[in-house]
Formats: sequence, structure tokens, C-alpha cells
Amino acid sequence: MTAKTRVAVLISGRGSNLKALIAACADADFPAEIALVFSNVEAAEGLAAAREASIATVAFSHKGFESREAFDAAVDAELTKAGIELVCLAGFMRIQSEGFVRKWEGRMINIHPSLLPSFKGIRVHQQALDAGVKISGCTVHFVAADLDSGPIIAQAAVPVLPGDTVETLAARVLEEEHRIYPEALKLLAEGHVQLDNGRAVFT
Ligand code: GRF
Repeated sequence: MTAKTRVAVLISGRGSNLKALIAACADADFPAEIALVFSNVEAAEGLAAAREASIATVAFSHKGFESREAFDAAVDAELTKAGIELVCLAGFMRIQSEGFVRKWEGRMINIHPSLLPSFKGIRVHQQALDAGVKISGCTVHFVAADLDSGPIIAQAAVPVLPGDTVETLAARVLEEEHRIYPEALKLLAEGHVQLDNGRAVFT
């Protein structure tokens, strides 16, 4: 049996995408295992899910660090110590320093609740409702230095329905997030998608 790819999931909150990844990794045939869950919020709900699944967790706030770089270096040290090969950002509410992003280039992915490049940043569903789009969705992409940019690995679309609120739209999109994030991780762990010269190349 080939060894599974060691993945870290970085969270700041609820952790529903983390749970979807944990569920996918429970399949014996899934090519990756979650070896570490890190949170910059010590009370993050998602940490409990990790502990329940007997996954190692580390949590410390960015607040005690003198710079973004110093915090990222401490996170990087944890990733290295745990032998991490791939990083999944799953509701990790931190902008990362250029050096950290460069170090993990091609090996770090993020999920965002819109069809990028539309609606980057925060209050994403409100942005979609304000724009009056009829279709929204979610995107898994390689992490690049610019926020919510980077080559796209997977997307799923959902309709925006009359009467939708931020909550109803978010719930519809979230269901798709939970489906495509494990799929994208599988592609990456199996080497079926790679970052090549700033593009996602599929084989
Ligand atoms: C998700 O909507 C994700 O796309 C965004 O933050 C939210 C995190 O939710 N980046 P959860 O913590 O995975 O439940």
C-alpha cells in the first residue's frame, strides 16, 4: 500500500469543510490523511471535530506575534514538525505572508464560497445577492499571494433563487463546498493536478 499524503487543515471557526475532509479521509482508498489541524482561534468549533477523529491539533492565536511573518513562521514550524506535504485552508481567516505562500506554492489550496474570480474577500454571499447574479457557487484554488486568487482546481455552481437570503444561499453553496473540496484534494494528492508556471495543469 502506498503511503497516504500527509495533509494539514487550517481553520478559524466552525469547521464544516474540515468535517467533510475528515469524512473523505476515512475511506481506506482516499489518497490523503489529515495529520494535523491548526487553528489561530483557540476556541474554534472545528477543533473539537478533529479531536473526536483523533487528529492532532495545534492552536495558537496570531495576536501574540510581532508580525504576520513571525506568526506564519511558527505555523510553518508546526507543519514541518508534523511532516505535512499539503495544506488545506478551510475557513482560515488570515492573510498569509508572501514568504509562507511562496514556500507552500502548489501545495496549498483554499475553498472560497463564490465562483471566483467573482466576489473575493468577505461577505461573499451578500456581494452575490447585491450583484443580482442568478448563479453562484464555490471554488477550490491553489493559494497565490493575492487574496482569493490562484489557479482554479474545481468549481461547482448553484442557482440563486428568488427570496434568497445570505443564510439560504450560504447553505446551498456549502453543500457543494463539502462535495468539491475532498474531490479537489484527491486530485492534488494523486498528482492529477499540479501547479505549473502559474497554471493548474490536469493529467
Ligand atoms: C466556507 O464557506 C469557506 O468557503 C470559507 O469559509 C467558510 C468556512 O466554513 N472560506 P467552515 O468553517 O468550513 O464551516
